[in-house]
This record gives sequence, C-alpha cells and structure tokens, in this order.
Amino acid sequence: MNMDCARIVVGNWKMNKLPKEGSSFVEESVNLLLDVERVQVIFCPPFTGLLGMNLEHPFSLGSQNCHWESQGAFTGEISTRMLKDCGVSYVILGHSERRQIFFETNDWIKWKMGAVVDAGLTPIFCIGETLEQRKSGQTDQVLTQQLQDGFEMVNSFKKMVIAYEPVWAIGTGINAKVNQIKDAHLQIKNILSKQFPKNILADFPILYGGSVTSDNAEELISVPGVDGFLIGGASLNIDSFTSIVRIVDKN
Ligand code: PGA
Repeated sequence: MNMDCARIVVGNWKMNKLPKEGSSFVEESVNLLLDVERVQVIFCPPFTGLLGMNLEHPFSLGSQNCHWESQGAFTGEISTRMLKDCGVSYVILGHSERRQIFFETNDWIKWKMGAVVDAGLTPIFCIGETLEQRKSGQTDQVLTQQLQDGFEMVNSFKKMVIAYEPVWAIGTGINAKVNQIKDAHLQIKNILSKQFPKNILADFPILYGGSVTSDNAEELISVPGVDGFLIGGASLNIDSFTSIVRIVDKN
C-alpha cells in the first residue's frame, strides 16, 4: 500500500445510516478497496456512527460538524475533544447545509476552523456560491470572502482540505461544468497563494463536491486542480461509492 495518497474521497452520509448499517458499509468498502493506492478515503457518518470504527490508513473517519469550545453548556453540540476520543481525524466545516439550513455564519465557521486546527484535526472546509451569486457574477468575491473569513483564526500551518461545493450543485443532480470547476479551483489556489507560502499550499488538496456520481466521476477527476471529491448522495450506496474511489485511484 502506497502511504502517500495524492487524492481524497470523502463520503458525507449526512443524517443517514444507523451505526450498524454504517459499520457494515465501512467494513465492506474497506474489503473492496484494499488494493487502492492513491486515495485517502474518509467516511463521515452521523455522530452516533463515529464510535468503534477503528480505521487504518488510507481509510479515516471524519465528523460532519463540531463546536468551537472543548466542553460546556452547549446543548446539542459536540467538541473536538469528543471527536478525537472517537478516532476522528477530519471535520467537515462550513457545509452549505449548515450555512443555509442552520444559519451558520462565517464567524462561527472561523471559530470552528481555529478549534479544529488547534485540536490537531484536519478541517474539510467547504466553500461555494449560490446560483443567484453565480448569475450575478459574484462567485469569485464569495469564494474570496469565505476563504479569508475561514482562515482568520488559523494560526498554525497544518494540513487542510478545501472543498469547492457550488450550492446549486449539491443534491440537485446537476454537477458543475468542467470549466466552472476549473476556474473556481484556480481562483481558490490564487487566493490561497496570497495567504500561504508555496510549500504549505501543496498540503491543501482542493476537492470538488456537488452531484458527483460514478457516471461523471471520470470526467470531473480529470479537471485540472481537482484533487478528489466530497460526495453526498452517491456515498450512501456501496457500489457507487467504491466505483468512484476506484475511478479516482486510476485517473
Ligand atoms: P451530493 O452532496 O453529492 O449529494 O450533491 C454533496 C455534499 O453535500 O457534500
């Protein structure tokens, strides 16, 4: 097994799968993907599915959210301390469903980013424009603002994962076009290069997310600047998930 995984595939299960369904899914996927060489595979079950997974490289566990405080009176929240105790290495932050349905602000996200990095976990930091913002030509501005705000509390240069997820492509069955993804990823790289030294940037993989399926994965992974995928719907099915991982491994 090659320890140097150049690419990443994240399965974001959202509010799906009971713990036993999740653990058998993971067990089966790991068995089917034993020969994968270039892909870090990150499973993000709901909180109840995080305990007892015991994954080994190149398979890891991610959380879909966390709070910025390590403990206290925060009903319904979970801390980085608790997540680490479950064996979590990655935390999805700034997902558009958190931003839109739960009204998470850029401020909340930046505090979470700071807490996750300080805890030694790797953020999977999601950014992306709405359809309205794209139509009115604000995509670059939105991405710039989200990135600047998100990194405000991050003091140390550790590994991070960025996920470009145009909001209009998430769960809609309409993935972004090759040129739109290429332009957005280039823009993200440009913004990051103003903020971080070159040698650090190599440790910031940029994923695409939004209606990735086993049918479009080959085309999308060939887009320059795409280092992997953040997958929602297609990560719930073992055949589609494992075949996307294989496509990313081979292309
Ligand atoms: P989708 O979700 O693959 O179902 O579009 C992506 C995401 O929410 O990250």
